[in-house]
Amino acid sequence: MKVLTCYSLKGGVGKTTTAINVAYLSSRQGYRTLLIDLDPQGSASWMLRTVRTDSRSITKVASGKTTARAALKTSVFGTDYEGLDLIPYGVETLNLDAHLATLKSPSKGIERIFDIGSTDYELIVVDLPPSAGPLAKATLVASDLVIFVMTPSKLSLHALEEAKDRIPTLTKRRTRVLFTMVDPRRHVDLESIDEARASGSLVLETQISRSTLFDRMQDRRAPISLAAPKSKAADSYLQLYHELATELGL
Ligand SMILES: Nc1ncnc2c1ncn2[C@@H]1O[C@H](COP(=O)(O)OP(=O)(O)OP(=O)(O)O)[C@@H](O)[C@H]1O
Ligand SMILES: [Mg+2]
Repeated sequence: MKVLTCYSLKGGVGKTTTAINVAYLSSRQGYRTLLIDLDPQGSASWMLRTVRTDSRSITKVASGKTTARAALKTSVFGTDYEGLDLIPYGVETLNLDAHLATLKSPSKGIERIFDIGSTDYELIVVDLPPSAGPLAKATLVASDLVIFVMTPSKLSLHALEEAKDRIPTLTKRRTRVLFTMVDPRRHVDLESIDEARASGSLVLETQISRSTLFDRMQDRRAPISLAAPKSKAADSYLQLYHELATELGL
C-alpha cells in the first residue's frame, strides 16, 4: 500500500481537484483506492456524494484506542465508483489536528490511521487542508509521495520556499511540485515553472492548464474524466495519474 498526499499552504490551488481525479483514475486502473478527506471543509466528501460522519473512531485509531481493523467498518464508506472508497470528513477529522498535538508521536498517530487501508487498498490518497499544523506535518512525514500543488506566480513560489523552511520534510526527495491553473500563453506562468525547477524543486512534467471545464466537476459532482470526457483537462489528469503511478511504483 502506498500513500499519496495532496498539499499546499495556499488555499484554492487545486488540491482537492487533484486528489479526487487521481484517486478516481487509480480505481479505474484496477487499484483498490481509499481517499481520506482530512479537510474540515469536506469538499472531497461532498464531491463524492458521501455524508459526513459523527463517529470519533479516527481519533481513537490515532491514539491506539481502537484498532484500524475495527475502524474499517465504522469510518470507511463506499462511493459511486467501484474500487474507490472514502473516509469522509466529520467531527473526528475536525478534531484531528488538536488531537494529534496531544500525542507523543503525531506521525505514529497518522500511521495508525493509514493502517486502516493496509490490507484492503493498494493506494491511499489524502486531501489535506491548507495548514502547517501537526496534522499536515505528521501526514507529510508518513506519506510515500507528496504532491505540493501550486499555481504559477511569484507569490506561490514564495509560499513554496516558506513551506520548505517551515516543514523540513518537504525538501526531501519524495515531494513533487504540481503546477495547476497554468495558462501556457502567459510568459510569466512558464517563467514561474522554470524558476521552481531552477530552485531545485522536483517539478512534475504534467501541468494542469486553467480551464472553465473544472466548474463542471462541481455541477456534476464527478471526476473530470466523467464531467468533461475527451477534454484536454481530462487527458492532463490521466497523464498526471500515470506519472505519479510510475513515481510510486504502482
Ligand atoms: N486547472 C483548473 N482550472 C480552473 N479551475 C480549477 C482548476 N483546478 C481547480 N479549479 C477550481 O478551483 C477551485 C479550487 O479548487 P480546489 O477546491 O481543488 O482547491 P483546494 O486547493 O483544494 O482548495 P482549499 O485550499 O480550499 O482546500 C474549484 O472551484 C475548482 O473547480
Ligand atoms: Mg481542498
